[in-house]
Amino acid sequence: MSSNAHSMLMNRVESLSERLALIHDNILQRVSLVDRVSCAIYDPATDLLKTFINSTRNGNALNRYQYPLEASVSLSRLAASGECRVIDFIPGSVSPDNPHSVWLLEQGYQSSFTVPLFSGDHLVGFVFFDSLTEAAFTDIVQRDLVLFCNLILMAIVSELTAVSCLMTTAQVAREFVTLRDFETGAHLTRMALLARLIVRDMAQEYNLDDEFVEHLYLFAPLHDIGKIGVPDQILLKPGKLNDTEWVVMKSHVVKGVDIIRRVLKDYQLSHMVDSRLMINIVAGHHERLDGSGYPKGLSGDEIPLEARIVAVADMFDALTSKRPYKEAWPLADAFDELRHLAAIGQIDSRCVQALLDNQEVVADIISHYRDPEEQPALQE
Ligand SMILES: [Fe+2]
Ligand SMILES: [Fe+2]
Repeated sequence: MSSNAHSMLMNRVESLSERLALIHDNILQRVSLVDRVSCAIYDPATDLLKTFINSTRNGNALNRYQYPLEASVSLSRLAASGECRVIDFIPGSVSPDNPHSVWLLEQGYQSSFTVPLFSGDHLVGFVFFDSLTEAAFTDIVQRDLVLFCNLILMAIVSELTAVSCLMTTAQVAREFVTLRDFETGAHLTRMALLARLIVRDMAQEYNLDDEFVEHLYLFAPLHDIGKIGVPDQILLKPGKLNDTEWVVMKSHVVKGVDIIRRVLKDYQLSHMVDSRLMINIVAGHHERLDGSGYPKGLSGDEIPLEARIVAVADMFDALTSKRPYKEAWPLADAFDELRHLAAIGQIDSRCVQALLDNQEVVADIISHYRDPEEQPALQE
């Protein structure tokens, strides 16, 4: 790894996309024929391979694309074997039988080099290098690019590590006190998938890139991390909370922000991750557009988009789940409630619209990731 490349990774750079663009600059100094570097990440929970970050010098970027890994025979083979793949002449070896291949052929790329990324045994994703020149990826070029792949891997894994450190910290702290999960895993999975559905629906209109979409999905489950600081008799109380209990309950937001800041600092990750997005989600998920939320009573655009999205996803899942003080609502009633809250100006109507426009997908998410019966439900 060149010292230049190393320092660019370690210096604070705002986003992974910017970091990838810098890595691409560095690659071009050594290998001038690489017209595009992109990275797709793999989500084992859904078996989806999803476009994530790209640096495209020649051609149009492919965004918001996802497909099951099992649908690609050749990529599944790379994932299983850990080997790289070289295609010297794309028009002669790729048939336009899926949107990705159609796009690839349209860009005029002639050759490509694909490298699977692993963290330990886990598949993290793939890096794709494309060139407008035939047979650009000679053995020597491949060797150089594999070194750059390690830089890309480090940048991505540091973020995934930050999230799993936080989740583990939260879980361990909670189990230490009560030997019980602090929030059902199924709720976190569902609300993260709902948040991702919303942000994907809004992405084009709001000009949100895939990195934002995937970060939101990764960070959304951290929203209630501060609940590890709320005693069980309040968290699990059947029935309404009294005023004093309610104050303690609301403190989970500020406690959550403190926890995130502390863990990022302890693991020296503050400069490596998009910590602002993470903090905004935790800090803002109970704010309401009309200023009636907490802890700050922010209103309108003062509430970051990521927090508004997570708020709607979290609320919808809370309505359709059983909680200590209520039964699960039917989906139709939950949709009506969101419509009502958007109409009175509490929650973002565009986020609500995203769920209303995708009711079948919402129903699939809710029914596919059910709570195990015996798990205790939580106050929200
Ligand atoms: Fe919360
Ligand atoms: Fe929640």
